[in-house]
Amino acid sequence: MSGAYSQLLEATIGYLESLKQKGVRYVDVSPESVNALIEPVLREVGSSEGGTQITSQAVIQSSRADGPSVYDSQRLSSADKVSAMDQLRDEISSLKKSPELLASGAKLVFGVGTVDADLMFVGEAPGEDEDREGEPFVGKAGQLLMKIIQATGLDREKVYIANVLKYRPDTPGKSFGNRKPRPDEIESWFPFLMRQIEIIQPKIIVGLGATAVEGLLGHMSTGITRLRGNWQSYRSVPVMPTFHPSYLLRNQSWAVKRQVWEDMMQVMERLNMPISQKQRGFFLRR
Ligand code: URA
Repeated sequence: MSGAYSQLLEATIGYLESLKQKGVRYVDVSPESVNALIEPVLREVGSSEGGTQITSQAVIQSSRADGPSVYDSQRLSSADKVSAMDQLRDEISSLKKSPELLASGAKLVFGVGTVDADLMFVGEAPGEDEDREGEPFVGKAGQLLMKIIQATGLDREKVYIANVLKYRPDTPGKSFGNRKPRPDEIESWFPFLMRQIEIIQPKIIVGLGATAVEGLLGHMSTGITRLRGNWQSYRSVPVMPTFHPSYLLRNQSWAVKRQVWEDMMQVMERLNMPISQKQRGFFLRR
């Protein structure tokens, strides 16, 4: 590698490390810049290994959302999906618990619904109510989510609902309330959500709120207010980002309710579900 290139690489690494120390987790870099940086390395690897097949495409896989299509993994029968889910649940239950988890005594909140679901909802983490019941979205936000699901004509048994985190984040020193998951918690729990998605192979995922959407996409170039309603993709599965039901509970405006409903109508259309005139008019001011 040329001296100038090594210097440039060192400087880039130093700069990124200084950002990391300041708590920055993501930087926007164009694929062209990444390609320019890795090009000499690829050339060197290629020449020293007699023309290796490494391509810049493979090296710069920019985020987990761009990984191999979920639909390329093996298609399972319903029975095999159930047993794969049971196995995954057992695997999570037998994980060595962190001291925080041991101290909080939180219960596993794995997921609920049918493994044959076309539609999957992803939230951020269980709260107090979910921890008590061992089931996602059973508190106030969950009741609202059920109303939204029922408004589409579906119900809890026809979809699959899971969170990125499988245990309620601890809240040391607090007797009530919930805590937003930390980035490191999202990173360590995401692989389990990923496996749930691979087992179900849903046709569509609805990402509920910024944390869930960021978990799925691996990064977020803009806030949920701008991203909602705009199709994204997680390894070829279309993802509809929308507001978290807790946000709807805090912000009761018709405009926000309508936005979520419009997001859901986009989902219904993509799933070829019928939408009645009455449904089209929900939350429209007369
Ligand atoms: N909020 C979430 O994100 N998930 C739940 O299960 C409950 C509330």
